[in-house]
Amino acid sequence: MRALGIVGGTGLSRLEGLETTQQETLHTPFGDPSGPLRHGRFRGRPVVFLARHGDAHAIPPHQVNYRANIWALHHVGVRRVIAVAAVGGIRHDMCPGGLAIPDQLIDYTWGRSHTFFGENLDSVTHIDFTNPYSPELRELLIEAARLAAVEVTAGGTYGVTQGPRLETAREIDRLERDGCDLVGMTALPEAALARELALEYAACAVIVNWAAGRGEGEITPSLIERYLGEGMGKVARLLEHAVALV
Ligand code: HPA
Repeated sequence: MRALGIVGGTGLSRLEGLETTQQETLHTPFGDPSGPLRHGRFRGRPVVFLARHGDAHAIPPHQVNYRANIWALHHVGVRRVIAVAAVGGIRHDMCPGGLAIPDQLIDYTWGRSHTFFGENLDSVTHIDFTNPYSPELRELLIEAARLAAVEVTAGGTYGVTQGPRLETAREIDRLERDGCDLVGMTALPEAALARELALEYAACAVIVNWAAGRGEGEITPSLIERYLGEGMGKVARLLEHAVALV
């Protein structure tokens, strides 16, 4: 049985309940991943866990070596990846503390190493990215949420900004006009790189704040912390069921 890859974001630098059997530090042709790959069993199922921002949560979204991370997971035999990411809520029903399983992406990032198909090519390669997330893996996450009795919003467009600063209120207005329901900083190029290596990839977005201008006042770390705690408790329950369905 192939291991399920889990990429943990802000609030998920460690996977509680993972019985680690091996910690592997890999060097890839694209540089070093954010940290060691943790091989082990989670609820009795094989899992490889990687903390996107590093064990110390010190790598900001624009500095994450997404190519090394995805390449490393592929290299150790992972073919399905569940990504967990903290986001801001734009749409009125994307409330802090809630979870969403997005189905679309819009890219506002720049300057990131975003492809494996940039150099040393035999021919130019374009991947299909009509549906950026694996429909099967998304369904699995939605089913896991149902079994865990965790409410999730099934669907939503995730706008990916460059960060690390949060957005201005007018930038969020623009994202909303573009059709974004959520805003975060890490889904791209991660999802596209996963597609380039033919990995099945889906995300569980944890809404930790109202996006800029959508809530009362400023977005403070303490506010984010509060909702992060609430959301991650739900993520843990969802993942426990998800690994059993893979
Ligand atoms: N914007 C971008 N990324 C984020 C946010 C946000 O409001 N919250 C958590 N990640």
